[in-house]
Amino acid sequence: MSKIIIAIDGYSSCGKSTTAKAVAARMGYAYIDTGAMYRAVSLYFHQNSVSHTDPKAIATALENLHVSFNFNEKTGRNETCLNGLNVEDEIRKMYISNMVSEVSTIVEVRRAMVAQQQRMGRKRGVVMDGRDIGTKVFPDAEVKVFMTADTFIRAKRRQVELLEKGELVNLDDIVRNLEKRDHIDSTRSESPLTQAADAILLDTSFMMIDEQVEWVVELADRHI
Ligand code: C5P
Repeated sequence: MSKIIIAIDGYSSCGKSTTAKAVAARMGYAYIDTGAMYRAVSLYFHQNSVSHTDPKAIATALENLHVSFNFNEKTGRNETCLNGLNVEDEIRKMYISNMVSEVSTIVEVRRAMVAQQQRMGRKRGVVMDGRDIGTKVFPDAEVKVFMTADTFIRAKRRQVELLEKGELVNLDDIVRNLEKRDHIDSTRSESPLTQAADAILLDTSFMMIDEQVEWVVELADRHI
């Protein structure tokens, strides 16, 4: 059976990652969370006080940082690693969410991440979620989904996720963060968040994760 690329793009907190992860498991494909890569870069910039306006410092940082993924057999979780260290929990915190979209506008950062993502998916058989997968990273992806959902519903979901990880965040702060990120992501000059002409729109406002997974798997089955 031929292997394809499934690109899942869309607004923040629509359930892209959860859906993509489950679709990958169902299909025996690799799952690549490109948002985690931008989050890890943001963490590195934060830890090393890299100025967003200093091209030399950015170039040096990009030479010195390495983002990878590791499947932890013990926990059964996919972990994002920065220079070999597990940063999975750290990159999900609000202070990273509050800086990641700015970091993601930096052209050199995008070029480095897109090149790595293209290498990771070159053999196909991947489900990749992000903002520019169907438009920039893999414009030739066989399946393209563009996810959206009501902002309040997205914020509520994010609040529950953060609470499960022990971080209590005010709903208004989450709404503000989602709206700000969506705005920055959609208006940046380099590969902005936009629905690819051949992507299929999926509004997840009133869908359960299982339904979303089923919907994507059925769509993918028609392309294999
Ligand atoms: O998917 P997640 O919400 O974790 O992504 C965090 C941020 O990373 C997004 O708000 C966006 O600014 C950036 N991002 C991006 N391009 C991608 C994936 C994520 O610019 N392909």
